[in-house]
Amino acid sequence: MKNPDVSKTLGFVPEADLDALRADAEYSNALLHTGEGKGSDFLGWVNLPSSITPGFLAEIKATAATLRSLAEVVVVIGIGGSYLGTKAVLEALGDPFAVLKKERRDPEILFAGHTISEDYMASLMEAVEGRSLAAVVISKSGTTTEPAIAFRIIKQEIEKRYGADGAAKRIVAITDARRGALKSVADGAGYKTFVIPDDVGGRFSVLTPVGLLPLAVAGIDIDAFVAGAQKMEAATAAGVPFAQNPAAIYAAARYALYQKGYKIELLAAYEPGLQYFAEWWKQLYGESEGKEGKGIFPAGVIFSTDLHSMGQYIQEGERTLFETVISVASSHHRVTIERAADDGDGLNFLAGRRIGEVNHMAELGTMLAHVDGGVPNIRIEIPKIDEMALGELVYFFEKACGISGYLLGVNPFDQPGVEAYKRNMFALLEKPGYEAATAEIKKRL
Ligand code: PA5
Repeated sequence: MKNPDVSKTLGFVPEADLDALRADAEYSNALLHTGEGKGSDFLGWVNLPSSITPGFLAEIKATAATLRSLAEVVVVIGIGGSYLGTKAVLEALGDPFAVLKKERRDPEILFAGHTISEDYMASLMEAVEGRSLAAVVISKSGTTTEPAIAFRIIKQEIEKRYGADGAAKRIVAITDARRGALKSVADGAGYKTFVIPDDVGGRFSVLTPVGLLPLAVAGIDIDAFVAGAQKMEAATAAGVPFAQNPAAIYAAARYALYQKGYKIELLAAYEPGLQYFAEWWKQLYGESEGKEGKGIFPAGVIFSTDLHSMGQYIQEGERTLFETVISVASSHHRVTIERAADDGDGLNFLAGRRIGEVNHMAELGTMLAHVDGGVPNIRIEIPKIDEMALGELVYFFEKACGISGYLLGVNPFDQPGVEAYKRNMFALLEKPGYEAATAEIKKRL
């Protein structure tokens, strides 16, 4: 991955502003390594890629192989950081039409526990009927309601089909080493378990078993994914000067824009497979920075699709947006536009050219149009979408998020605001212990 190109922010932010942030960005990066910044109990992700051993990857792959041999469908249960990283990588690397292709050999990965939709759950249970089944249940706290409900339902189904002993072979739990209801259930039932380290928060956990096990089950090359992250860990290490540190450059550019009133960041990509990568990124930045009345609002768009829905606003709406584009240099496939004898659609000027070239020109044209319209642009180029590039991108965005949080002056590793809805939901559901809150909240409805 090249350094982010921030040249198209310079008409909006004086170069001097960016230069003034160099030392702060380097210092913020250093804090992530010395542990002297806010939230320092949650810095386990910083040196995580380089601490992953071949032995650990072998254990993950062996467990994945067992699940692959036992099940046509593996339900991955989790929410937030326990779900989005896996979903992002699978969507980016997956074939969107795999379901129609007979040569598929990998188990189907279905997600549950990221929603409490009754219809979604009912539909999922119908889909697994008649197909051999296994589950990976992921919750760091082990107490999150959404995955706990989904797990109860899936676990009962697996036990009904295969008995308690069969279920113990088909269910893997990824949770805290000591605490939480999931840990007790897993120990009691004898499930294989993997640990989410104490010092790695959910949204920074895709390079732990949280992401690695489901990805290995799906047939993803986790060695290459981890190698990509290791490469980026080295590229952004403590002491790497600002000008060579891609994470510091990105963090400084977006913070300089934020200071000038650009409060919404659109992560844009021209590959639909990156849609969930933007969802993962939204959680990473939204939950890490949105606090104390501060923070850039993260949004995601896929172009050119969304140019036909959001394009008008981006071009001419309120000038508080900036764009960060993940630019993919080459496609895996070639599709060429052929000459047509009649040229009824007027497209013969494109004859012999690849669709990817059209997409690339759409990207460059959009960048210039948006810059002309008042939307600063940061461009992050990757060679192609593969495991290595995604591993690099994941660690790049994590490191930049830590630096960004420190530039903003917040603790990027907590999420106190997430509790408010839970308290109300439990009060409304009359959970034992919430009696007073139940009486209060019912008066407000
Ligand atoms: O980043 C975070 O910490 C959160 O988004 C969590 O990942 C999410 O709330 C799920 O929590 P848990 O894994 O404890 O079920």
